[in-house]
Amino acid sequence: MKNLRKFVAPEFVFGVGALDLVGRYAANLGAKKVLLVTDPGVMKVGWSGKVIENLQAAGIEPIVYSAVSPNPRAEEVMSGVEDFRCNSCDLIVAVGGGSPMDCAKGIGIVSSNGGHVLDFEGIDNVSIPGPPLICIPTTSGTSADVSQFSIITNLQEKVKIAIISKTVVPDVALIDPTTLLTMDNFLTACTGIDALVHAVEAYVSTAHSPLFDLHALEAIRLIHENLLAVLQSPDNLELRGRMMLASLEAGLAFSNASLGAVHAMAHSLGGYLDLPHGECNAILLDHVMAYNFPEAGERYVRIGEAMNLDLRGLSLKKKRTAILAEIGGLKKSAGIIHTLSDHGTSRSDVPHLAKKAIQDPCMVTNPMRPNQRDIEVIYEEAL
Ligand SMILES: [Fe+2]
Repeated sequence: MKNLRKFVAPEFVFGVGALDLVGRYAANLGAKKVLLVTDPGVMKVGWSGKVIENLQAAGIEPIVYSAVSPNPRAEEVMSGVEDFRCNSCDLIVAVGGGSPMDCAKGIGIVSSNGGHVLDFEGIDNVSIPGPPLICIPTTSGTSADVSQFSIITNLQEKVKIAIISKTVVPDVALIDPTTLLTMDNFLTACTGIDALVHAVEAYVSTAHSPLFDLHALEAIRLIHENLLAVLQSPDNLELRGRMMLASLEAGLAFSNASLGAVHAMAHSLGGYLDLPHGECNAILLDHVMAYNFPEAGERYVRIGEAMNLDLRGLSLKKKRTAILAEIGGLKKSAGIIHTLSDHGTSRSDVPHLAKKAIQDPCMVTNPMRPNQRDIEVIYEEAL
């Protein structure tokens, strides 16, 4: 083992009832007034209300900030900073999927460091840690509650920027599978495939390591075994728990090993055309795997085995076919059947999308080193 590897993870509590610990954790962190970052969808299904009640019962005043879009925008981060400062808040709680959590991380960065959130783009550019942050995820996909990533949209430039820093790892993640019971099937499918992509990209990342691999392969096994089952039985808390665990393990893997071309290309699509993250990843996954196969073939075979495929005795070419078919079949069975053109992407968008994707920090750890034309071809195949 020649290379140094660091494993960063927050304190987390996993299991039914974890959400109810928010007041106690916030009080232990010394909070008096909390900025609660959430979004209208999560407010509507009641999880934000539950967190508010719990904080109030612990004698903490929550200030709700819910003006967060599905692809959170720099402006939304900056107005959240205003709310944090004007109300003299001393802690941030994020409740929701990746959008409120990424927005909350941005609010924390600017609250402590000043400036504009877009100034912190890139790797290790945040010098002062934000105020304490507690994350409560309500999807089994993004893992922003355990990750070193915050993805923010720059609306003027139509790009998503990635802020990657140990300082954006939350202080505490309260991971409660009960919150998944209000997800509809399409969101369950898209976030489940997003978690699968996290695990696959972390496993074949050029920064992989045995410790990250354990979590990545277990996440792949769990998602392969439980995604279709949970779509059949969305009220089954046991199955929801397994998907939440898969998301957590995928998050631990990718937060440390980083990602690859699927995420670089999905970020480009999200920034330019405001397309949903999970679905973009799902659409691109098998196309990117086909491209990466020459460099990552052996690792993809391990992924195939984690998906319970019997690949013994097959040539590498046949293994490739079987693995890609399994991924394609899983996507289709989960109801993800659209292409990029169904979402309004046209051939004329491709050169711009590819140019931005090449510059995304997630591309750095992709097993193949693509040029502009390679990425254009992958987008064209996914149209
Ligand atoms: Fe993702």
